[in-house]
Amino acid sequence: MGFAVLETSRLLIRRFAEDDLADLVAYRRDPTVALYQEWGLDWSLVDAQRYLEHADESKLGTQGEWTQLAVVDLTSGRLCGDIGVHFIDAQPSTVEVGVTMSSEFQGLGLAGEAMRSVVAWLFSEFEIHRVFAHVDARNIPARALLTSLGFRQEAELREADWFKGEWTTLCAYAVLAKEWIHQGHG
Ligand SMILES: CC(C)(COP(=O)(O)OP(=O)(O)OC[C@H]1O[C@@H](n2cnc3c(N)ncnc32)[C@H](O)[C@@H]1OP(=O)(O)O)[C@@H](O)C(=O)NCCC(=O)NCCS
Repeated sequence: MGFAVLETSRLLIRRFAEDDLADLVAYRRDPTVALYQEWGLDWSLVDAQRYLEHADESKLGTQGEWTQLAVVDLTSGRLCGDIGVHFIDAQPSTVEVGVTMSSEFQGLGLAGEAMRSVVAWLFSEFEIHRVFAHVDARNIPARALLTSLGFRQEAELREADWFKGEWTTLCAYAVLAKEWIHQGHG
């Protein structure tokens, strides 16, 4: 299934392009952005290039594959952030999501706007059954974002993740297609 460009009132969500990569590297190396994310401050252009490879339409919707989507400011065309969608292997019709916004575009409701559009698209276009995210328990903005989108916290995985030199606690969030529609998103 192909990746159509999604448009919200302030954003375009599309596949990554070569011109996005310098901005992508710059915000991913920001210590506040990387704090609870798996990458380190040495994240580089080589890592960013992989996002172009993963922009391959044929991979989208394939179980076991992550695809990274670029979140772009509609007026200026500047990259604001990215959303990763992972069609997991272990279950059918189940997608893990992750979102990252550049510091200068945080706190403006843009992450919520982008995520709402992507989650709706996953449910409608791919007939996904369940969308979930695992976040560091200390990551208050990410937890607030998921809650505001209607994700339920399903579990607290206490000291389950050996992360950047310490045991960390993860919170598991999810929303089902029927819950999403019931909340009036669908
Ligand atoms: C997680 C992240 C994308 C959230 O972005 P954001 O710009 O704060 O999100 P939004 O402005 O769209 O806010 C979404 C909701 O969270 C709330 N929120 C955001 N930060 C908050 C905070 N520090 N405390 C309480 N609520 C907060 C907002 O009020 C909003 O709720 P509302 O829609 O009910 O008003 C951003 O902080 C980020 O990129 N962090 C670094 C990467 C990361 O850790 N990603 C998580 C991986 S899943």
